[in-house]
Amino acid sequence: MRQPLLTSTAAYQALQNHAAKARDWQMRDLFAQDPQRFERLSVEAAGLFLDYSKNRLDGRTLELLKTLVQERGVERLRDAMFAGEKINLTEGRAVLHTALRAPRDRQITVDGQDVGADVHAVLDHVKTFSDAVRNGDWVGHTGKQITDVINIGIGGSDLGPKMVCLALRQFAHPRLTMHFVSNVDGHDMDAALSRVNPETTLFIIASKTFTTAETMMNANTARQWFLQSAGEEALARHFVAVSTNVEAIKKFGIDPANMFPFWDWVGGRYSVWSAIGLPVALCVGFGYFSDFLAGAHAMDEHFRNAPIEQNLPTILALIGFWNREFLDCASVSIAPYHQDLNRFPAYLQQLEMESNGKRVTRAGDVITDYETCPTIWGDVGTNGQHAYFQLLHQGTDVTPIDFIAALRPAHEFHNHHAALLANCFAQSEAFMKGKTADEVRQDLAGQPADEIERLAPHKTFPGNRPSNTILMEYLTPATLGALVALYEHKTFVQGALWDVNSFDQWGVELGKVLAKKIEAELNGEAQPAQHDSSTNGLIARAKAAV
Ligand code: F6P
Repeated sequence: MRQPLLTSTAAYQALQNHAAKARDWQMRDLFAQDPQRFERLSVEAAGLFLDYSKNRLDGRTLELLKTLVQERGVERLRDAMFAGEKINLTEGRAVLHTALRAPRDRQITVDGQDVGADVHAVLDHVKTFSDAVRNGDWVGHTGKQITDVINIGIGGSDLGPKMVCLALRQFAHPRLTMHFVSNVDGHDMDAALSRVNPETTLFIIASKTFTTAETMMNANTARQWFLQSAGEEALARHFVAVSTNVEAIKKFGIDPANMFPFWDWVGGRYSVWSAIGLPVALCVGFGYFSDFLAGAHAMDEHFRNAPIEQNLPTILALIGFWNREFLDCASVSIAPYHQDLNRFPAYLQQLEMESNGKRVTRAGDVITDYETCPTIWGDVGTNGQHAYFQLLHQGTDVTPIDFIAALRPAHEFHNHHAALLANCFAQSEAFMKGKTADEVRQDLAGQPADEIERLAPHKTFPGNRPSNTILMEYLTPATLGALVALYEHKTFVQGALWDVNSFDQWGVELGKVLAKKIEAELNGEAQPAQHDSSTNGLIARAKAAV
């Protein structure tokens, strides 16, 4: 159904008028005017605490944003998603990653099929298999226990399991080393294979479609490498597959008993909760994998039931929307102050940018008068502070930051943790307050006056730069599950406000088709096609180098 254009709605226009004033607000003043600002502008759910007080907004802003959510039917769309309606309009699919983490007794049907029963049947298989590998019952073809697991997948079939295995490293099985090969660049495969022994290695071929070129090439290379030291009959002990394409798995030669299916109503970037999470179950055990699912489910329940003003994903989405639409922020930096979350920014890049990096509405109209998804990027603190934070503090663009931290560490170096948290909190304070020219002059007092005036502009920080801080007690499977689900639902709410289909990804297709053509040309299997002079020149250089 065609929605009225976002910018034509009364709520959007009210926000626009309000923003004309808000652009001049100084957060320093907002804090000074309201001693309760932190209490008022923070919210807690599913083990996560969000402080959003360091944003350029007030109670009125939130009221107007809430009205927009209601006017745009976001809650109706949310309920349709949870109910299994086919809200992925361009692919005619339901969007039910939430069903992957729902309790066994929750009835959810799609086209008359009880998807809850299917989900739990696969989870049971994941449990049996991961238990067997972990306890040593599952052995390689020469009778040795598995020591290395190589997950071959890309995009959602790589980023989720890799991010989670790294994040939960402290819960990992001591015998199992996890490897992730995603890139078609042979160096990636070479690096993994050079570290493992085929007798003790388990390969997981993970691909929703089982047609993705990079994954298929890597899977074939792994198979050939393995068969250099073993016969075909040994494959069944060393190759398993996760996919929605059961026929293609069979064709690849994987034992049907070693297949872990999932379904077209699970988007690739929302699939870590499905059998795509098999590496997680192998790495940390099924019990912790279940805790990860339960943490996400707790966030789902919160998202479904909490009123807008206490709804953590909705608030996070609204702040991002406000910064993007009305305060001209074109990118968002993700700063986990936790080394084990070092792949979290990359994970969110796919989640948010593949979901909401769209330029037409759900009805297919080209969006011309508002912005959609900002660029998502980042790295762990404190590393980023010594690299790109300069630009965040004093560059000409304003980039909002999400700081993420655990209050308690999982190590015993407590002085490190105090230093880490101090840096995290100090950065958000500095972004908010900045440093005025007068404060700089006071710092420089005693130096010659002309020297003070020369240096003052360079040492001045404009401040007034927005950030959110998300805290959890510990980084556990459950809090990680809640954190990922938080951003999934944030992405959902923003997509609903922008009126884009957050669940397709046609934008990646063109490059894939062109790469196929050029690959054939590079391999001498096709005549050079008519490209532009740049592409022709690059192909010629590559051919000359062979
Ligand atoms: O090309 C983009 C994409 O389809 C992502 O959406 C997906 O996560 C990734 O490729 C991998 O796809 P598959 O799991 O089907 O191999």
